[in-house]
Amino acid sequence: MSRPGPDPYLLRIARAPAVRALLIQCGAAPLTLAIIYVMASCRLPVDYWSVAAVQGLLAAGLTWKLGLAAWWRVIQLLFPAALLAALALRLPPWLFLAAFLFLLGLYWSTFRTQVPYYPSHPAVWDAVRQILPPPADGAPLRVIDIGSGLGGLVLYLARQRPDAECHGIELAPLPWLYSRLRAAIAGSRARFTLGDYEKLDFGRYRLVFAYLSPAAMPGLWRKAAAEMRPGAMLASYEFAIDARAPDRTIHTTEGEDALYIWYF
Ligand SMILES: C[S@@+](CC[C@H](N)C(=O)[O-])C[C@H]1O[C@@H](n2cnc3c(N)ncnc32)[C@H](O)[C@@H]1O
Repeated sequence: MSRPGPDPYLLRIARAPAVRALLIQCGAAPLTLAIIYVMASCRLPVDYWSVAAVQGLLAAGLTWKLGLAAWWRVIQLLFPAALLAALALRLPPWLFLAAFLFLLGLYWSTFRTQVPYYPSHPAVWDAVRQILPPPADGAPLRVIDIGSGLGGLVLYLARQRPDAECHGIELAPLPWLYSRLRAAIAGSRARFTLGDYEKLDFGRYRLVFAYLSPAAMPGLWRKAAAEMRPGAMLASYEFAIDARAPDRTIHTTEGEDALYIWYF
């Protein structure tokens, strides 16, 4: 009988760069202690800042050796010193807790999805409006923003296209709550769901809009190719798909990133 392998969800978390970076800092700590012990034994000057420097250098070196993206080396190098600097400010402890809870609510699973929050802009929303099929062409017009952030695009489309069902799905609780409140205050028909777009059936939608990150695009394409129906569109702002060239590219504003569209 074959033994069940490790849980793929836990594996994905363990492979997330932020988790690996944290494990590297933990792994560097005993080495730092050993080096500091040797430095102290040789009567070299040792203080908290030298500990932070040794820890940062070791963590950055391990990060480079283990092949994380280049910016992680800088983060790993500066992280221990930044911790010391924050402690030196002598801020009240509740402030750290409040900042942590705020960032947790805003970024939630970003360490796993590698898709942080950053907004698209109204020129992009209008380009999306323009690619929608005309009203009453037969099939119901359902559109969704997968990772709807603060809800700007979905609220805009709900205003502009009263014939369309406009949905947003968002993994992080704080932006989701904010978009729900915006819709309630504006009396909008836009609907916002708290959840993971990976669990949705894309086959229900005529347009799926994504503003995610390069890391999310291969999985998004596999899902879209498997589920989206003939006549549907996938639109991605800024990030293209390696497996298939877009059928259309729109430059919303000069010098800005493109909106890519694939037809099914
Ligand atoms: C770059 S922001 C885009 C926000 C919004 N679509 C816009 O255009 O302004 C990406 C959002 O996707 C959310 N997200 C990432 N992975 C997700 C997932 N698997 N399911 C739902 N939302 C996700 C993030 O929390 C983040 O708010």
